[in-house]
Amino acid sequence: MSAVVGEGALVADEDAGFWTRRRFLTALGAAGGAGAVVGGMEVLGLFPDAEQHKQAYVPPRASDFHLQGRAKKASVLVLGAGDAGLAAAYELEKAGYRCEVLEARDRPGGRAWTVRGGTTDTDSQGHRQRARFGESQYLNAGPARIPQGHTTLDYCRELRVPIEVFVNANPDAYLYRAPASDAHGPLTRQPIRRRAARADLAGYTSELLAKCLDQRALDARLGGADREALISYLRSTGALSASNRYAGSANRGYAKVPTAGNAAGALDQPYGLADLLASGLGSSFGFELEWDQAMPMFQPVGGMDRLPRALAAAVRGTIRYQAAVTRIRVSSEGVSVDYTDGSGASQNTRAAYCVCTIPPSVLGGIEANFPSAVASALAQVQTMPVGKIGLEFGRRFWEEDDRILGGITDTNLDIATIWYPSYGFHGDRGVVVGYYTFGEASSQYAALPPSEREQRALAQGARIHGRPYRSEFASSFSVHWENQPFTRGGWALWADRASSTAYQTLLEPVERLYFAGDHLSYLTAWQHGAFESARSVVTALHKRVLAGGD
Ligand code: PHE
Repeated sequence: MSAVVGEGALVADEDAGFWTRRRFLTALGAAGGAGAVVGGMEVLGLFPDAEQHKQAYVPPRASDFHLQGRAKKASVLVLGAGDAGLAAAYELEKAGYRCEVLEARDRPGGRAWTVRGGTTDTDSQGHRQRARFGESQYLNAGPARIPQGHTTLDYCRELRVPIEVFVNANPDAYLYRAPASDAHGPLTRQPIRRRAARADLAGYTSELLAKCLDQRALDARLGGADREALISYLRSTGALSASNRYAGSANRGYAKVPTAGNAAGALDQPYGLADLLASGLGSSFGFELEWDQAMPMFQPVGGMDRLPRALAAAVRGTIRYQAAVTRIRVSSEGVSVDYTDGSGASQNTRAAYCVCTIPPSVLGGIEANFPSAVASALAQVQTMPVGKIGLEFGRRFWEEDDRILGGITDTNLDIATIWYPSYGFHGDRGVVVGYYTFGEASSQYAALPPSEREQRALAQGARIHGRPYRSEFASSFSVHWENQPFTRGGWALWADRASSTAYQTLLEPVERLYFAGDHLSYLTAWQHGAFESARSVVTALHKRVLAGGD
């Protein structure tokens, strides 16, 4: 604890500009010592982690049944073996429920899909692909990055799925803004290093603020000691001289890297402030500070599907693959579901309860005796078109030539971003994400046959990486979630969940059927949302069973 309460915590607070809170804590520390400061921080809500631990999820336990004298083995039918469905079955089984899982695909994971050499796909447009990636190479076609604070990591830990760092922010990756017109200035004619643009922007903005402070422009807001402390923070962030001037620094990278003896290295001239502002590049730096995008981030070693596969292995009940649901009947007694099996034969299964994780865009097309309010809620859910292409290269030129080891290049082209792999550094080959598109840009790529998507992605990426982007190219595999028959969309789009009748309707069970999935969470488009939704539904279902079942 004491490390958290030391200088670091107070300085970090100053950095964030929490002046009154800092004063309060400093005063408290002087009067009551470290223990008082910790207590004070909890009062102020500065230990969000402590808060989270207090609210930790408690899975239903088998002992609940014994305590309440309920019959064991209440049955639950789970529809969908993605993260939400598998977690629901896994958690329910901890309490003694008997689960059966129906999954339309021939694999677990849903969107948590890892494409490797030999993976095949036929999308709803009839585009057929077979991945030709080499040994150990892969594309996470759906989720690919896990933040520290997400429940997803708890499942990795519980199921012993090894994780490694996912490089989400790399200062040496590029920023590229193709000039729509000359309006964006000279910096948009070439890819530039994120590091250089960020250091220059921080430098100039720090300089401007430091000069304001020097002129006492902010006297009413800041006392003398606070002003000095803020100026020293600005000097360090902006790499300012003692006279508070920004003239470039090594933070932005070297023109010539320092080596031995008298080779001190050489800096480049900083970009001009006006050019930086005109380029619009500054708007890209907030991303890597976001709660769920900030480093460190993680990925399962070997591919995202390691997590759903571990969950599937931990589920004791039967998981039926290639079982596509065709009809759902709910009643006060339970649920009855028709599905076609792998051979195309029609089957039926029944259970006392059901957890349905089929995405609304798919579920809306399945015959069901849901009340009309539920049917119209399902029909109202809008989804985001989302697609990715994996480009395998025979040489890691981004590592060898550009010295970019992982991370993301950000562009204003229709590819949006280029992701360098966070696995297999210095290996012979590597799969780069050549586009990760949302919305309209994604729909345009989705409409093309895979070979044309590939050519377009290569042409765009070559604007940043030049010749090797073509000469080292080996093969590609692209996925557009709106064209995946059992997904039909990247993720749900909600304007305001609290006031959305559709959202609120789907949070409620229909007789003995509960809906679950990331679409019914505040973290849509994250595995965390799927896991949290599953936990919340499992908890509600179990409470109901313990209370008598109706
Ligand atoms: N979780 C996804 C990602 O990190 C989708 C997403 C993007 C969600 C941006 C929120 C913000 O790419």
